[in-house]
Amino acid sequence: MPDNTIVQDTRTGKNPEASKEMVPPDHLTIKDSRTNKEYPVPIQNGTIKAMDLRKIKVSDDDFGMMTYDPAFMNTASCQSKITFIDGDKGILRYRGYPIEQLAERCTYLEVAYLILHGELPTKTQLADWTHNITVHTLLHENVKKFMDGFNYDAHPMGMLISTLAALSTFYPESKNVHDAATRKHQIHRLIGKVPTIAAFAYRHHRGLPYVYPDNELSYPANFLSMLFKMTEKKYVVNPVIERALDILFILHADHEQNCGTNAMRSIGSSQADPFVSTAGAAAALYGPLHGGANEQVLRMLREIGSKDKVPEFVKRIKAGEGKLMGFGHRVYKNYDPRAKIIKETADKVFEVTGRNPQLEIATELERIALQDEYFMKRKLYPNVDFYSGIIYEALGFPTEAFTVLFAIPRTSGWLAQWEEMLLDPEQKIARPRQVYNGYDTRNFVPIEKR
Ligand code: SDX
Repeated sequence: MPDNTIVQDTRTGKNPEASKEMVPPDHLTIKDSRTNKEYPVPIQNGTIKAMDLRKIKVSDDDFGMMTYDPAFMNTASCQSKITFIDGDKGILRYRGYPIEQLAERCTYLEVAYLILHGELPTKTQLADWTHNITVHTLLHENVKKFMDGFNYDAHPMGMLISTLAALSTFYPESKNVHDAATRKHQIHRLIGKVPTIAAFAYRHHRGLPYVYPDNELSYPANFLSMLFKMTEKKYVVNPVIERALDILFILHADHEQNCGTNAMRSIGSSQADPFVSTAGAAAALYGPLHGGANEQVLRMLREIGSKDKVPEFVKRIKAGEGKLMGFGHRVYKNYDPRAKIIKETADKVFEVTGRNPQLEIATELERIALQDEYFMKRKLYPNVDFYSGIIYEALGFPTEAFTVLFAIPRTSGWLAQWEEMLLDPEQKIARPRQVYNGYDTRNFVPIEKR
């Protein structure tokens, strides 16, 4: 008997021979050709629950049907109210607000409040939120000793990830993940401290003394001060650069169930504390296919070298020799709305810093790719990482620091997703199944007989 099942979707009325009175309104009727049995499976939110398939068996001792979905290409792991993406239309909204409006009208801390609390803050709420984060920008002095242990050329992401995890040893009470007040306190600490850790890693890399937080400055300005202040009494930030960094932080704050957020939710589901969970999320982000792509884009542009070499490079990509970094996305099959805003922001930054010559190569690469069948067929468009590195380089950040600049704002998104998971009654410890296709049982073979 062929192992194929016939599935009827009542919303379209396909497969008429299945009787309709036996099942709820929206459902699939799955007919198992191995047993000729039919199973009604309810459809909710355009999905079916994988657990509803377990009743499909060929015998009483059969474990039951599972879904098989490597890399979760077509699996919803949770219900969420935080971020909405429409990949075909290039739409991104945080808590219902279009990213374009938030990038134009808000500060990053305002958006972080929105992502974590679900509503834009009132003036008083924003003032309290800003105060609670600002008073947590300092690091324990022992953290400096910890960071001094790294080689001068240690990658800043390795330093960030390790230091985030190390912070869990300074705040053991953070393990009380089901206590709302404790969670709130750690959220303030993490959003407040992540720029300080990033800046200290950068100063260590440059062999410069650490610059302590200046709590009179805005979130982005304080970060720039901790990075670039030298012997002057007070760092004077260029307002165009301050605003550009705030916009970049807003654009990177959250992005629904991406690889790093999936890691955050998975680690957090075991009730690990938010510091080690955030370290795990940052570790996932570090990968070149994820947040590490912004660093790889600059390396790719430098490898191309000049605008006239772009066609040759594109030919190599089409021949399967590597990927066009900063292009493509699991969800966006249209232009990433963040890339559009970043490109507009770049023009404002270059008026202050001078034009980055890499931009010419990047725009030529985009021009050619967007009209080439190979990329069009695969719906490959620039993503958030394609232009961000060009701005970061113009702002004076070393290439190794680019992914750290992604991790700083994404910390608020990770924490919002983490808290939503903890408060979701449907969630429990994440533990996927597998399809085992290894050996059946076999007996031990002594070494002399192998
Ligand atoms: C981020 O998920 C998120 O939301 C992530 C993020 C966030 O905010 O958290 O948006 C941030 O991670 C952005 C993505 C940054 N990564 C890169 O720019 C690296 C380059 N991009 C690719 O590695 C890739 O596009 C991914 C990883 C982003 C998406 O990979 P998918 O969805 O698994 O797609 P795929 O690898 O199955 O590709 C489908 C086809 C393949 O070709 P065929 O096998 O069909 O012939 O498209 C090709 C791929 O080879 N392809 C590319 C390509 N991306 C996909 N070919 C050349 N260059 C590319 N960049």
